Amino acid sequence: MKLLSIFFLCLALFCAVQAQTRGTIRLVRNGGFSSSYTSGIVQIYYFTSTSSILRWGNICYDSSFGYSGASIICHQLGYTGISTFGKGGERFGYDGTATILNRVNCASTSYLTLEQCSFSTSISSTCTSDTEDVYVSCITTRIWSSPYSGQIRLRGGIYSSYGRLEVYCNGQWGTVCNNTFDATDARATCHQLGYSNYNTYKTLAGSSSQPIWLDRVSCSSSSNCLSSCESCPSSQYHNCSHSQDVALGCEFNSSYSSSTNTLRTCNNDPPTSRPTRPSSGGSNKTGVTVGSVFSALFFIFGVIFLFCLIYCCKTDDCC
Ligand SMILES: *[C@@H]1O[C@H](CO)[C@@H](O)[C@H](O)[C@H]1NC(C)=O
Ligand SMILES: *[C@@H]1O[C@H](CO)[C@@H](O)[C@H](O)[C@H]1NC(C)=O
Ligand SMILES: *[C@@H]1O[C@H](CO)[C@@H](O)[C@H](O)[C@H]1NC(C)=O
Ligand SMILES: *[C@@H]1O[C@H](CO)[C@@H](O)[C@H](O)[C@H]1NC(C)=O
Repeated sequence: MKLLSIFFLCLALFCAVQAQTRGTIRLVRNGGFSSSYTSGIVQIYYFTSTSSILRWGNICYDSSFGYSGASIICHQLGYTGISTFGKGGERFGYDGTATILNRVNCASTSYLTLEQCSFSTSISSTCTSDTEDVYVSCITTRIWSSPYSGQIRLRGGIYSSYGRLEVYCNGQWGTVCNNTFDATDARATCHQLGYSNYNTYKTLAGSSSQPIWLDRVSCSSSSNCLSSCESCPSSQYHNCSHSQDVALGCEFNSSYSSSTNTLRTCNNDPPTSRPTRPSSGGSNKTGVTVGSVFSALFFIFGVIFLFCLIYCCKTDDCC
């Protein structure tokens, strides 16, 4: 019996360790990993140019790596942005791990995952030393610290690419019930997070204090956001228990089109009441109206001023 429980414990640990998917990113110090690190040497779980077997490897700080790549690494880890980044980072301790990606080039600083950038797995000879490894120090504010309605996150996993799916509605983070939740829904959800595909979907119970916001999710294959398939309900409406809470693993899979989502793409909230300005170069209706009102007022005041001046000079009161 004792042996059996040890076996299951090992199995559980093994499964937990296997929670990384292709493209998972983590930060290590002195070769060790903790999900609480917000700074450290960057490792990505990927394949090499000579083998399709996935393994952890470093990213080379070469001439194409820059602020965008560093910001996106922090986004993928669930942080709002980059504080400092560089190469070597002896203060984090070299990890003795081989370089797996170089020539990382990112078109937007607002992308969500490194998959949305271009990169190469053929490693240049100038990239093989541990002193060339990218390290990052992320801003510790979470990407979901000021959430929009319909924003999602994965919680309760070891890595940022796996966990219980949580959705923000009515000012509270809640869960998603697994009724009818299928591969198409899982893919749309992973797209919202910046990945091209899901690797697995199962269940991971949330807290009983959390609402269950979504049930019978139904996305189409063209959906790029869970928030465009299912809008937030005004109140809970389901027949589910938390044991049915959906958990997801997201990954990079080149067989599927990569996500083009940025930090705010899936935000359906009405824009906050900012004064509407005509866009640059636009002398459109609002611009013209505001302009004409001002010219008219200016003209009227000018005329009044002139009349006063003439009147005042005629009466010798002021001249
Ligand atoms: C819950 O289940 C009952 C009985 O099966 C059904 O009548 C009802 O419509 C269900 N409600 C929801 C929200 O699915
Ligand atoms: C939902 O999760 C429950 C509990 O894990 C499981 O028994 C059930 O088969 C799942 N339903 C679907 C549709 O996947
Ligand atoms: C991508 O996903 C599909 C379906 O899940 C799978 O058959 C395929 O092997 C994956 N591609 C790679 C490169 O692993
Ligand atoms: C100005 O208005 C026209 C028609 O109302 C519209 O087609 C155009 O895009 C607008 N231009 C700008 C700069 O807003």
